Amino acid sequence: MANVTVIGAQWGDEGKGKIVDWLASRADAVVRFQGGHNAGHTLVVGDVTYKLSLLPSGIVTGTLSIIGNGVVLDPWALKAEVEKLTAQGVTINPENFAIADNCPLILPLHRDLDGLREAAAGAGKIGTTGRGIGPAYEDKVGRRAIRVCDLAHLDSLDPQIDRLCAHHNALRAGFGEDPVNREQLLADLREIAPYVLQFAQPVWKRLKKVRKAGAKILFEGAQGVLLDVDHGTYPFVTSSNTVSGTAASGSGLGPSSTGFVLGIVKAYTTRVGSGPFPTELNDETGQKLGERGHEFGTVTGRKRRCGWFDAVLVRQSCAISGVTGIALTKLDVLDGFETVKICTGYRLDGKIMDYFPSHAQEQARVEPIYEEMEGWRETTAGARSWADLPAQAIKYIQRVQELIETPVALVSTSPEREDTILVRDPFMD
Ligand code: GDP
Ligand code: IMO
Ligand code: MG
Repeated sequence: MANVTVIGAQWGDEGKGKIVDWLASRADAVVRFQGGHNAGHTLVVGDVTYKLSLLPSGIVTGTLSIIGNGVVLDPWALKAEVEKLTAQGVTINPENFAIADNCPLILPLHRDLDGLREAAAGAGKIGTTGRGIGPAYEDKVGRRAIRVCDLAHLDSLDPQIDRLCAHHNALRAGFGEDPVNREQLLADLREIAPYVLQFAQPVWKRLKKVRKAGAKILFEGAQGVLLDVDHGTYPFVTSSNTVSGTAASGSGLGPSSTGFVLGIVKAYTTRVGSGPFPTELNDETGQKLGERGHEFGTVTGRKRRCGWFDAVLVRQSCAISGVTGIALTKLDVLDGFETVKICTGYRLDGKIMDYFPSHAQEQARVEPIYEEMEGWRETTAGARSWADLPAQAIKYIQRVQELIETPVALVSTSPEREDTILVRDPFMD
């Protein structure tokens, strides 16, 4: 039976959480494979709204939920999120939730460094979520991270802590900051260790067993392809690979396991934080998209920048991530616009381009070429079947799939779980 890998195909916040929650009831396990609590996913089920950052979105349906080794894990954020969701009636225990024991930890010193760097960068700041994501990934590849499995061996952790503190103290001194309080750090780790360890295990082994039993695995990506550290709008990116290929390395299963790649695509474009955004609208239309789409960040509450759909970017994301089909979300936000625009190419120094260049300054200078389509007066909000969609909205969807060279598998028409149109079942592909 096919597995499904869900990734964001724009700059994040495409509605991945809603789609993963909807698909989770058809899956036997949901695995987060990169990122950390920089993610913010809003799930709406009836009258209840769930906000998740670190936990896989499958947890709400009670599906076996796994945090893979590719994630950077803040133990205190984990505990707070589990407590918040438990208070909302979600069951989370070692039976239905596991954490890879080789996950690197996000520590308070990572958050400190994230904040110090952003403050020092002034206007050149990345606009990070301030969660310590970048510094934690740096320590992982720098081979000085403290990992989940280390929490079971705190008495022999001194050499690792010393190495980590020596590195951070040099950086902190450069910012005029006090050294790390080593004893406090150890005391904090000692206190949180049993909580994290109750969920810790070699998840690759658990996944191997799940796979052998023929179960369906849903891999849940965070952020989006345009925030990928290699393929995104570097340096205005996050510090992990967000493309579908990471599902394998970030969970401990091979690339043949990732199955149907479902790219989540918003019917227009948003971005939070700094960096190039060719179709950004700093006008009334942009404001209208933001208001109608409630475009405020789940994690930081920041206002998201808004603009028209950029088919060039999404076509590129789909190619880079091997997207099999897309879920087109927030179509309802375009209801009532007299006309809608789609970016079909760029102009740069008098030349026409059909792709987004790699160089940051060129990315900032490209000018979008638009195609304008008639909008639709009718509402698509809450539509659950293709037949419920106005003809003009169908034309828009068809034009999108033509331009991005990738078929539509799902359409989402409201935040509510069930307001979803299934065109092609990714698990049956
Ligand atoms: P994620 O990070 O990709 O999971 O997306 P977020 O949850 O950060 O942002 C998407 C927002 O849009 C959330 O508030 C969702 O509840 C909401 N949403 C998801 N799908 C739809 C949709 O089809 N229509 C509307 N109006 N809102 C949606
Ligand atoms: P979800 O999973 C949107 C952005 C930040 C910033 C850049 C780097 O909800 O789609 P970081 O804290 O990761 O070092 O910040 O990446 N960013 C996101 N933008 N959605 C997200 O996650 C994001 N996670 C990080 O705003 O521009
Ligand atoms: Mg989000």
